[in-house]
Amino acid sequence: MKIMEIEGGRELSGTIRISGAKNATVALIPAAILSDEEVTICNIPEITDTTALCDILKELKVDVKRASESIIINPRNMQNIEIKEEYSKKLRASYYFMGALLGKYKKASMYFPGGCSIGARPIDLHLKGFEALGATVTNEKNKYTVEAKELHGANIYLDIASVGATINIMLAAIKAKGTTVIDNAAKEPEIVNVATFLNNMGAKITGAGTSTIKIVGVDYLHQCFHEVIPDRIEAGTYLIIGSLCGNPLKIDNIIPEHIESLTSKLEEMGVDLEIGRDYIIVSNYGKKRPTNIKTAVYPGFPTDLQQPFTVLQTQCSGKSKTTETIWENRFMHIPYLRDLGADITVKNQTATIIGPTPLKGTNVVATDLRAGAAMVSAALVANGKTTITNVEHILRGYENIVEKLSNVGAKITLKEI
Ligand code: UD1
Repeated sequence: MKIMEIEGGRELSGTIRISGAKNATVALIPAAILSDEEVTICNIPEITDTTALCDILKELKVDVKRASESIIINPRNMQNIEIKEEYSKKLRASYYFMGALLGKYKKASMYFPGGCSIGARPIDLHLKGFEALGATVTNEKNKYTVEAKELHGANIYLDIASVGATINIMLAAIKAKGTTVIDNAAKEPEIVNVATFLNNMGAKITGAGTSTIKIVGVDYLHQCFHEVIPDRIEAGTYLIIGSLCGNPLKIDNIIPEHIESLTSKLEEMGVDLEIGRDYIIVSNYGKKRPTNIKTAVYPGFPTDLQQPFTVLQTQCSGKSKTTETIWENRFMHIPYLRDLGADITVKNQTATIIGPTPLKGTNVVATDLRAGAAMVSAALVANGKTTITNVEHILRGYENIVEKLSNVGAKITLKEI
């Protein structure tokens, strides 16, 4: 088991370079198997979710080479083997193999995916989409088999603008006969990045980034070179950390437009920001005003930044509110923030935070990936030592977090116990 120890209360200054987006990478790697030739993807983050997906590729006899930040995937000799539970349960995004295998072989067989316990996380919209394309779905003891004689284009309306369902249906529809239209599609930048990758391979996708995506099926997908976009959630996390203890902190290699919902909230709070073309400089100067947030689908305030943002709200002068609308169980960080000294109450899906409260180091748990990011943010601003357990969750999504924070002056260590 790994633990993280942080001596908080230090000012952080310097530059943090943002890595490739986790939520794009975890879709791009399964998407790569749709190619009939070798593909190269660069700016791949070195996180455990990437390793878990490469392990699945190897199980499917796909040739995978990793070099620095790139990955070369050659699916020429791959086999459509059932994905075992020990692989699928390591991460949520293993379910993208369902759409990709269905698209390529007209059959996919795998166990229910794992991932953070932040809500029920059903996959009914994914399965309904596959059925609309002509597949039948069977579910037996947690194992899903999705198959079709032939996939055909369809008009699909998503009841919820789900990121996962949008991408998975796109993957399944790429080689279907005819045209598929996904309405009420999710609009997240990661979806645009995946669609661009597929188009680079020869797919015909238009409308990614809007609520209507059109996919005209093709027979063959060829080699290509693709780059993962910068991780807007990692960037947002370090911006929040910079707002707590930056003196100043430059968050580099980002697309500022992707995090406008966060930067406008930071500006509303009175946080000092200098927004450049591909960087933001942030400092913790002066008092912060209380601010309310409500999570929403992109371009709304991202649910994945809600947990670290709560930490910032504890340092504002007055009453702030956070309402979570996407996941039913995303306040698991609150009891640990209270242990650190925060004044927070939760009623239904809204947390009320009274600040500013000084935070004091103690023992806390990273209950899920972004709750872990909240614990790191809180520990950095807290006085004294904080020990975080279950840090495996954090390492699933934040590349080199210990090195990145140490390089700007944090006292942070990762220990194996
Ligand atoms: C993705 C992100 C995750 C982020 C979330 C919302 C990845 C790997 N993960 O997760 O970090 O928090 O988007 O921005 O990209 N739903 C259904 N049925 C379905 C699918 C989803 O009811 O078949 C519901 C979910 O329970 C949830 C909402 O739709 O309430 C949004 O989920 P979705 O956008 O699918 O999230 P993920 O793709 O799992």
